[in-house]
Amino acid sequence: MSSTTLRLAVVIASVRDGRFGPVVANWFAERAGEHAGFEIDVIDLAEVDLPHALPATSPMIEPNPVRPDGMAALTRSLERADAIVIVTPDINRSYPASIKTAIDWHFTQWDRKAIGFVGYSGLTGGLLAIEHLRSVFNELNAHTVRNYVSFPRYYLLFDNDGTLLEPEGPEAAATAMLDQLHWWASALAAARVAA
Ligand SMILES: Cc1cc2nc3c(=O)[nH]c(=O)nc-3n(C[C@H](O)[C@H](O)[C@H](O)COP(=O)(O)O)c2cc1C
Repeated sequence: MSSTTLRLAVVIASVRDGRFGPVVANWFAERAGEHAGFEIDVIDLAEVDLPHALPATSPMIEPNPVRPDGMAALTRSLERADAIVIVTPDINRSYPASIKTAIDWHFTQWDRKAIGFVGYSGLTGGLLAIEHLRSVFNELNAHTVRNYVSFPRYYLLFDNDGTLLEPEGPEAAATAMLDQLHWWASALAAARVAA
């Protein structure tokens, strides 16, 4: 693997009261920290001011509109990230509204970046959210990597302290995804500089 150090933003998509998302995100951030080649930011959308009312002007015309002050840290993290991992549950067979709002407030910040996913939920393990997000990120000219991590019925897989009962499989899935993410993020970072 390349030794290039890239910036990775891990985004906690759910803002639901009593959410499980931070447990999954922290587990993944630890895996990413063990994987050479990434500097990591964890971004919690529950701490971001995310109005549903989007700016009046299309991002094609005004890619960086005036944003709420409470969105600045999110924007800065996305701006400097080479790779972004979205940690998302399935909510009614798709992603939570909070992540769509965070995506829609940004534009150039996604452009030619590498995107990975960690899903968790009931039976479907976040896979429906992940598939829908792939389509959204196509529109933003981002590259979503093939491999992902999924925790179907996560409540059977973690103990009450948030520790994975059988970590080997998920750890292998995280490593495979991080390898792909590093390859793509590195290639895209070089191409963005050359363009
Ligand atoms: C409104 C709502 C809809 C849900 N829809 C699904 C679903 O379609 N498929 C699924 O597997 N789990 C579904 N779930 C279960 C969630 O994925 C699960 O509660 C998960 O913990 C949500 O993530 P969070 O705890 O980080 O908010 C749903 C939960 C809620 C509250």
